[in-house]
Formats: sequence, structure tokens, C-alpha cells
Amino acid sequence: MKDKGKNELLQMENFMIASDKINSSDETFNKLMFVYNAALKQLETKISILEDEFKFFYGCSVIDHTKTRIKKPESIIKKLENKGIDLTYRSLVENINDVAGMRIICPMKDDIFTIVDVLKGMPDVNIIMEKDYVTKPKKSGYASYHMIVEVPVQLMKQVIPVKAEIQIRTLAMDFWASLEHDLKYKTNNKISKKVSNELVKCAKIINKMDNQMITINQEIIGGVN
Ligand code: GTP
Ligand code: MG
Repeated sequence: MKDKGKNELLQMENFMIASDKINSSDETFNKLMFVYNAALKQLETKISILEDEFKFFYGCSVIDHTKTRIKKPESIIKKLENKGIDLTYRSLVENINDVAGMRIICPMKDDIFTIVDVLKGMPDVNIIMEKDYVTKPKKSGYASYHMIVEVPVQLMKQVIPVKAEIQIRTLAMDFWASLEHDLKYKTNNKISKKVSNELVKCAKIINKMDNQMITINQEIIGGVN
């Protein structure tokens, strides 16, 4: 039992999977995806309660909508291959943090940090890693707040901590990221320097707009008009 205590997800009952090669049509793979899916359900419920609480008690909407997805088997394999890691279940569990992914789309830029703070205060959400591409966008222009979290999934006989990636961004940032992603996809990731410069310019305009919206909102709240 060399693996014992190392990673609980690899230690599920009747589920010694660590060194097996990934096969997306085997039972192990389906079991693993079931657990990641359960983690997303946990997060969806938490965020939905939070959304309701903000509405009912504070009369404000800090979340426009959320999206969740489980990474496709072919994308999991591709990512492991790109990282040059062996294609075992152990590698998957230990190295791929975004098998379960959630996107939280906010109306305003400052809502992002409100949600980040609330998530940080949740006792059963363990923050593993954070990347603030809102304060400091990526070279591509991409802006979003990323968190890798771990949530406990309660099964019949055990509780398993499961990792998920949460991306938090505004409607405007999401608009940019979706279009940019589609453009990259269409061109097989080979967009010209000129186009990438244009995309950075668009991202800057979007950032300016997000900042202006905060000012407008503050003026309205303050009754300045
Ligand atoms: P990977 O998950 O291996 O990409 O790790 P990483 O450390 O590079 O992660 P990072 O937090 O930078 O980005 C992870 C995810 O953010 C990606 O899978 C995309 O969903 C999103 N993302 C990052 N950069 C960009 C970008 O330039 N454009 C768009 N549209 N999305 C991006
Ligand atoms: Mg990803």
C-alpha cells in the first residue's frame, strides 16, 4: 500500500487506480468523473446560496451567471501529453487541476473580489492556488481571477477532498475571452502578431469600460447622478 495517505482521491474504496493507464471507456474513469462532478455540484450549490443571500439580504446582484464543465477525456490526455507526464490516473489526479471547472460571471469588476473574499472565508473550501489576472492581466490581454480549490465530497463511506478550478470574471472579460478563444481555435492557435496586438487593445478598452462601470455604479448609489 505504497500510495496510502498520499492522495485520498486515489484511495477510494474499491478504487485502487493510481498506476493504471487512463482509459476513458473504463469504469475507473467514469468513477473518477463522478467524483469531479460531485465537487462541481457542491460548488454550484454554495455559489447559488451566496447569490440568493446577496439578493435577499443586500438587494444586490454580484453574480450574473455561472457555468460548469468537466474536461473532455481527449483534452485531459492532450494536457498530460503536453506536460510530458505519463498517462496514469495518478498523474491525472495529481497534475490536472481543472478536470472540474467552474466559471463565475459577475456584472462588475469589484464583484470579483467580493466573491474571492467570500470563498476564502468558507471553512470547507480549501484554496490551493490563486492567480489574479484581473489586477495583472496576461500578455494576451486575458483578465480573470483564477482559484484552484479543494472541496470535500461526502460519499457513503468516505469524504474525499476534490480539486476544481474556479475562474471569476466580469461579463465584459468573458465576452473578450470567448471571442479570443474562438479566434485562436479557428486559426489553430496561430494568430498573427497584428491580430494579437489588436486583441490586447480590445482587452484594454474592456478594462477601461469595466472601471467606468464601477464609477457609474458608485455615482448612482451615491445619488450623484
Ligand atoms: P493550464 O491549465 O495548463 O493552462 O495552466 P496555467 O497555469 O497556464 O493556467 P492559467 O491559470 O494561466 O489558465 C488556465 C485557463 O485560463 C485556461 O484553460 C483558459 O480557460 C484560461 N485562459 C488562460 N489564458 C487565456 C487566454 O489568453 N485567453 C483565453 N481566452 N483564455 C485563457
Ligand atoms: Mg484549463
